[in-house]
Amino acid sequence: MPIVLKSPQEIALMREAGRAVAEVLAILAWEIRPGLVLRKLDDIVRREFAKRKVVPTFLAYQGYPARVCVSVNDEVVHAIPDSRVLREGDIVSIDLGATHNGFVGDAAITVGAGRTSPEAERLLRVTEEALWEGIRAAWAGARLGQVSAAIQAHVEGNGFSVVREYVGHGIGRSMHEEPQVPNFGLPDQGLVLKKGMVLAIEPMVTAGDWRTRRDSDNWTVRTVDGSLAAHFEHTIAITGGEPQVLTLP
Ligand code: MF3
Ligand code: CO
Repeated sequence: MPIVLKSPQEIALMREAGRAVAEVLAILAWEIRPGLVLRKLDDIVRREFAKRKVVPTFLAYQGYPARVCVSVNDEVVHAIPDSRVLREGDIVSIDLGATHNGFVGDAAITVGAGRTSPEAERLLRVTEEALWEGIRAAWAGARLGQVSAAIQAHVEGNGFSVVREYVGHGIGRSMHEEPQVPNFGLPDQGLVLKKGMVLAIEPMVTAGDWRTRRDSDNWTVRTVDGSLAAHFEHTIAITGGEPQVLTLP
């Protein structure tokens, strides 16, 4: 499918979907503590999305059985909120998508449960910073590779690794549109960004090796070496000026 450019009116609608995602992510983050049963997060999304009259994009997507992905410690992405219970020091990646007015918003954050190790704190900080470095590079006329390279440089400059097997994506009426948005690459590569492109930029970062494997549930993605992973994501629009972040409250 070719890249779909959005009008300012469509981008305004996408911000409504994005706002719901951001508000509910903040509610979920507030619930993270030792002792939390992960399934509770899915219940909260059901309730809060119904209130806001938005639809959970992930539920039944390629058979995914929940409304939110909740990935703990060495789990990178796509883990299912089930009967697992959080423990002190866990780090928890929460990835959420909402559909509203026919448009999708997609965002993710990673937060600690109780007191976390200094190394885990640094992983979260560097991953969130890498997301913002990528966003900062996303101007019309720049190459997509500048976004990718900015993310990779910040991550690797801090001694962490960028996951290769999963990438960000264009987004709009579908959660996944062209182009793919890698978190690694060279600044002179990739397409030239244009006003009206909407991208989900989502660095997935590990404290050790970048290689991942999928569990037998066919969803949970975790690091092969057991190292911690973090994930931050925003949906952003390329404009005539600075990038607009659509997944803000
Ligand atoms: N937010 C994820 C992404 O960008 C999608 C979750 S996959 C699902 O690719 F199956 F859980 F929906
Ligand atoms: Co995404």
